[in-house]
Amino acid sequence: MRPFRPEPIIETPRLRLRAPRRSDAARIAALCSDFEVARTTARLPHPYALADAEAFLASGDGLDPAREARFALEHPAEGLVGFLSFFGEPAPATEIGYWLGRPYWGAGLMTEAVKAALAWAARDWGRTYVRAWRLDENPASDAVLVKAGFLYTGERRQTFVLSRGEALPSRGQIWLA
Ligand SMILES: CC(C)(COP(=O)(O)OP(=O)(O)OC[C@H]1O[C@@H](n2cnc3c(N)ncnc32)[C@H](O)[C@@H]1OP(=O)(O)O)[C@@H](O)C(=O)NCCC(=O)NCCS
Repeated sequence: MRPFRPEPIIETPRLRLRAPRRSDAARIAALCSDFEVARTTARLPHPYALADAEAFLASGDGLDPAREARFALEHPAEGLVGFLSFFGEPAPATEIGYWLGRPYWGAGLMTEAVKAALAWAARDWGRTYVRAWRLDENPASDAVLVKAGFLYTGERRQTFVLSRGEALPSRGQIWLA
């Protein structure tokens, strides 16, 4: 039996950030199979099949909740519209990543989700700073991070982009609680 652990729910004016469920697989696959969603993320493969979503959701069972947190972004009328994760680094640091289905871009939804998730991470999860890496060619993500209060660290690196099979220039950003 899996140990009981409380699953955080974060409410924003338009979204609910909740724990992912196995039943999210088809919806995640439908939105992530769009190359425009995958191409500026490091880790989404392309093509993206239902089995990729199922494997991703299954991998959530083994996560250390002190180290990683995953949230489905649920819209009251549209259902699951995107995803946001904290991962990679031990407390008090963590790294953030996210994607939004293409029909929902440009309405401020990810900025709203990121701001609320940062507040949760600082208040309830003991994080004092959060890192992000985004491709130079991703001005939309840059805008989200800057609107949410991230600063540039001056770090630059090549990030391997799975969907494109190549490493591309990216820059580091940081949010201080
Ligand atoms: C990045 C992403 C999450 C943004 O989500 P979103 O809900 O559309 O973002 P928001 O509406 O909150 O903010 C987007 C901002 O980027 C701006 N923007 C969008 N495209 C832009 C472009 N080509 N150049 C400059 N700014 C751009 C928008 O104008 C908006 O800023 P504004 O509110 O000041 O006008 C979404 O585009 C996405 O999922 N992309 C694919 C996956 C991805 O890149 N994930 C991040 C990996 S680091």
